[in-house]
Amino acid sequence: MKNIPVGIIGGGLMGREMASAFARWCALTDVSARPVLTAVADLNPDTLSWFTRIPSCTQLVADYRELLQNPEIEVVYVAVPHHLHEAIYLDVLAAGKDLLAEKPFGIDLPAARRIVDAAKASGRFVRCSSEMPFFPGALRAFELARSGTLGRLLEVTSGFHHSSDLDPAKPANWKRLSAICGEGGVLNDLGMHACHVPLRLGWKPKSLFAQLQKGYPVRPDGKGGTTACDTWDNAMLHTWIEHDGRDVPMRLEMKRLAPGATNTWFLEILGTDGGVRFSTAEPKTLHVFERGKEQWWKRTELGFGTGFKTVTGGIFEPGFPDVIQQMWAAYLEERAGNLGDRFGCTTPEEALASHEIFAAALESQRQGQAVTLGDLG
Ligand SMILES: NC(=O)c1ccc[n+]([C@@H]2O[C@H](COP(=O)([O-])OP(=O)(O)OC[C@H]3O[C@@H](n4cnc5c(N)ncnc54)[C@H](O)[C@@H]3O)[C@@H](O)[C@H]2O)c1
Repeated sequence: MKNIPVGIIGGGLMGREMASAFARWCALTDVSARPVLTAVADLNPDTLSWFTRIPSCTQLVADYRELLQNPEIEVVYVAVPHHLHEAIYLDVLAAGKDLLAEKPFGIDLPAARRIVDAAKASGRFVRCSSEMPFFPGALRAFELARSGTLGRLLEVTSGFHHSSDLDPAKPANWKRLSAICGEGGVLNDLGMHACHVPLRLGWKPKSLFAQLQKGYPVRPDGKGGTTACDTWDNAMLHTWIEHDGRDVPMRLEMKRLAPGATNTWFLEILGTDGGVRFSTAEPKTLHVFERGKEQWWKRTELGFGTGFKTVTGGIFEPGFPDVIQQMWAAYLEERAGNLGDRFGCTTPEEALASHEIFAAALESQRQGQAVTLGDLG
């Protein structure tokens, strides 16, 4: 196995998650590369000090430019607030490093366009983080949709729900402030999760009608005061896609106010001959519809059928840390030209397409009517 020295910029929630996925890389049995966490940059000294528990991580710095000057590092993962995406992603590329960028890949559509242009010009290997499609059930749903066996496509629903914002006493973080999260709010926060599989299937909306809702306008700031929260919290995008020459309705849902949900990613694809339904609320369960003399919804327990094989027994259930690790395996194998027919990480073009959807949603909300994506310029 080839060691790939990795640097992380932003060691918060996601930076630590990645470090932990690398630390148990021994779980993977059919990969050719191993990420070795070598350096972390974060402005917060307490956050940085957590990484002292990773023996290979010998460079801990506040200024990410020092990390980028480290000639050993080949790949940089960046997990910082959205208003910093563009500047840091461009610096990573200018330093000649490959990049796994966090979603939403820039704070808005113009930023995403500039990042994609820079990625193309750099010739570096660039992908955007989106791990949920690496659940075995999601992979099976993708394969079924791609197989053409579902008949005429009737409707698609893809979404991501959580309920973190239901509690008005929860202190606000940067994800509730448009200046840092972006005007898209929940679209920027959760939208990539809902768009990745549909876009990979070629289902980019032609037009859409958006229903966007805000949450509590004021929250505790965590320091004894309060702060104004101005982002959209829930988004329902009623879109039209084209499939086999026919218009098909597709609903994209992203919610931070979904009663009872805790990071639930779900996908339902219905056709005249078959259908498939998967939700991370039942992480090893797949529901498949079959139309014969009788019509059946079948339910099977998939277990641990991940794209990249592991030491974990096939009867166990997969979770968030597992799909994070699978996403990294896909990134490194695709970077090495070894992905084959396995599912890959979000491409820069798909990330840009997701921003076109978010921009259209904001425009639809402003106009109170459906908008055509091509009209946005
Ligand atoms: N893929 C997923 O499932 C998922 C989940 C959560 C967040 N995210 C994305 O990850 C990114 C980060 O989100 P998070 O939840 O980890 O945020 P976070 O607030 O927990 O962490 C961000 C970190 O960036 C650091 N930081 C800020 N400015 C910096 C700078 N100039 N240089 C270096 N470090 C800096 C902060 O100190 C903080 O530790 C966002 O793009 C978010 O959308 C993805």
